[in-house]
Amino acid sequence: MKQEKATVVEHHNFQGDYRILRLAAPAVGPLVKPGQFLELRVPRLDDRILRRPFSIYKADAEGASILYKTVGRGTEAMVSLQVGDEVDIIGPLGNGFPELTKGKVPVLVAGGYGNAALYLKAKESPVKGIAFFGGRTAQDILCIEEFQVLGWDVRPATDDGSLGTKGLVTASFDPWMAEQENVQSLELFVCGPNPMLKAMGDRAIEHGFTAWLSMDKNMACGVGACLTCVIKRKTTDGWEWARCCKDGPVFESREILWEE
Ligand SMILES: Cc1cc2nc3c(=O)[nH]c(=O)nc-3n(C[C@H](O)[C@H](O)[C@H](O)COP(=O)(O)OP(=O)(O)OC[C@H]3O[C@@H](n4cnc5c(N)ncnc54)[C@H](O)[C@@H]3O)c2cc1C
Ligand code: FES
Repeated sequence: MKQEKATVVEHHNFQGDYRILRLAAPAVGPLVKPGQFLELRVPRLDDRILRRPFSIYKADAEGASILYKTVGRGTEAMVSLQVGDEVDIIGPLGNGFPELTKGKVPVLVAGGYGNAALYLKAKESPVKGIAFFGGRTAQDILCIEEFQVLGWDVRPATDDGSLGTKGLVTASFDPWMAEQENVQSLELFVCGPNPMLKAMGDRAIEHGFTAWLSMDKNMACGVGACLTCVIKRKTTDGWEWARCCKDGPVFESREILWEE
């Protein structure tokens, strides 16, 4: 993990409310593993002391990119970042996704900006499988072509039916799962809103496959100090608090004790 003054080298609209920010960050970029994130201090913001977490969408020796959606004060302030601006970042943070288990069939499942956390996983996976992407509308289904170029079979689903199957991501995943002869051989890598994570985790437990869930919890420090991001993790005799920023954000479905 490094703290770095990164320089904006690219910043543009991607689609809908989503934008891509590319940073020259030679200290952070080379260290990144799939599923890790960075904490970015938003310049020119009153509460700029608080950093915002973003999955690392792409990374190389020179730096890293994020794919973000404008949802509030911090992300709206980020829109004004110009090429050449300096941004204070800490990263890479979190455990990231584990490597695909030998002999397993990889399946990616993403909702909205969850795709950003899965792109590097899709790239490094030695076996390319199937990717289920969900979103409210076609505008929320991101980077299909990029995953296809890597060799993934992408199946979109939208709430309004504007792209792919109409309904939640489970509307395309469930019929496909029902056709699988060896469901236990599936290994899921999932990133998206918590209801989607839980839905996939429940299926993993019921049908006996593995699902790695990247938890979406509000964060503050990002480095394990403030306990803003805790979830309940099962232990042999009950549960314990686990910090999504440091112990996660990725947990196997059987580890998580969901709050009612
Ligand atoms: C590990 C991790 C990775 C993330 N990766 C990405 C990413 O790749 N791209 C991206 O666009 N966003 C990502 N997020 C979410 C991003 O951090 C928030 O959208 C951002 O912090 C909101 O800041 P804001 O000041 O604009 O919004 P705020 O003014 O703080 O909040 C505006 C609205 O957004 C909601 N919100 C805030 N944080 C989250 C969150 N974590 N999940 C869902 N809703 C939230 C608030 O409840 C509120 O309704 C990630 C979050 C985590 C924890
Ligand atoms: S965000 Fe501070 S402990 Fe996780």
